[in-house]
Amino acid sequence: MSAPPATSPSLVLAHPTLAERKHTWTLTQPEWGTALTLEEYLHREEYLTTVPLAKHGGVTHWILTVASAPPDQRPILSSCETLRKRALYSTTAPPGGGGVAEGIAHGVGSVFTDPAYRGKGYASRMLTMVADELKAHQGTLMSPSATAASSAADDKRLPPVAFSFLFSDIGKKFYASRGWVPHPSSHLSFTTLPSRRSSTASSDAAAAAPPPVAAIGYHELAELCTRDESLLRDRMSRLPSSLEAHQAPSSFASTPPDASRPLTYVALAPDLDTMLWHLMREDFITTRLFGTTPSVRGAVFGHPGRRVWAVWTRTYQAAPPAISANTLYILRLVVEDESAGEEYLAEGLRAVIDLAREEAAEWGTAKVLLWNPDGEVEGLMRRSGLTFEAVEREKDSILSLMWYGDGPGENVVWVAGEKYTWC
Ligand SMILES: CC(C)(COP(=O)(O)OP(=O)(O)OC[C@H]1O[C@@H](n2cnc3c(N)ncnc32)[C@H](O)[C@@H]1OP(=O)(O)O)[C@@H](O)C(=O)NCCC(=O)NCCS
Repeated sequence: MSAPPATSPSLVLAHPTLAERKHTWTLTQPEWGTALTLEEYLHREEYLTTVPLAKHGGVTHWILTVASAPPDQRPILSSCETLRKRALYSTTAPPGGGGVAEGIAHGVGSVFTDPAYRGKGYASRMLTMVADELKAHQGTLMSPSATAASSAADDKRLPPVAFSFLFSDIGKKFYASRGWVPHPSSHLSFTTLPSRRSSTASSDAAAAAPPPVAAIGYHELAELCTRDESLLRDRMSRLPSSLEAHQAPSSFASTPPDASRPLTYVALAPDLDTMLWHLMREDFITTRLFGTTPSVRGAVFGHPGRRVWAVWTRTYQAAPPAISANTLYILRLVVEDESAGEEYLAEGLRAVIDLAREEAAEWGTAKVLLWNPDGEVEGLMRRSGLTFEAVEREKDSILSLMWYGDGPGENVVWVAGEKYTWC
């Protein structure tokens, strides 16, 4: 397969047709198809262009190809997709001191080179071009047949692009040397718990009574997400902009920040569309594996104002009974009032995590993972008597961020790093 070298000016970035996307998905299925057959995977990938967050130009597919060949007959030298998300970032500019601004963040995913073209620099060339393009990218409506699709933002005034990010599954080096700075990526891993609901039929029903925690379904999500975003904005506006006052040194990127410059805190908005993107992805696979969708999508403890709650999603590498690599991820964990008292918060966290562990057991997954908990949450978890393994990841799901705003990328601190950020 002869194709121009990766440095050739004849290479261009283009949006693939549906047939070209299907060709790429066919190649990526062995890598990312998990528990889905090829047919199911092709269906899932197309379906994922129609769900909240992705629809209306939210998802954009990119290929590196040659300018001279027509669509559907040109080589696909490398490919990826980007998902547009709402980003929040702290600002320190006077007058008025710190505030929280809203921008766009593009999540880069599914970076892939056909094995026949690997090791020739095509992914690197594509990523360099995509990174540049994303700085001003607002979204692209992917039409089934067109190659150069119109901008989704032609008549909408979307905020500027603040950064792009990705989760590397190939360690820290590859994307770091192409401009995406690796950030700390850790998780807590909990074992599953046999369901107490089914055991309450025993004579010892009182002892087995479930803790005061309620299940969260689809219909509770909108209110919770709105509240969460407002609390997050408030917290971000109070975080110190100077390195000296910063409390959690472990939250910095691998390169030390410049102490003479202010810190910038960034987060992805934990909004309803973001949660729905994950839950609808989950619905797709549970429908295929179990013929149904789960009704319990999270758990909430306590009353409004003092709630502790989590939303989660189940992911499957294989169909049960091969469950060892299947995981229930906490998408977002929220403590509404951090001053509610250690004992109360520890009890709330335990109740929420234990319900997640029960759901994990019931739905053919082998563990519960919570990404990037802050130090206080981890301390409260320990205090609650929960046991878990704390893991610092070095190879998989490494958050890597390219900052497009003012100031050095090393001074960017990622907050709210649970799994809802993944794409
Ligand atoms: C990773 C991938 C996209 C690279 O594509 P490519 O066109 O061969 O990439 P390039 O020729 O531009 O660059 C090759 C680089 O990829 C690195 N690389 C490839 N596979 C890697 C792996 N599994 N782990 C670490 N680095 C890897 C090579 O070491 C080389 O790095 P260097 O240039 O810094 O020495 C391709 O190997 C692929 O599609 N892999 C399967 C899917 C995948 O893992 N995608 C990434 C998900 S985060």
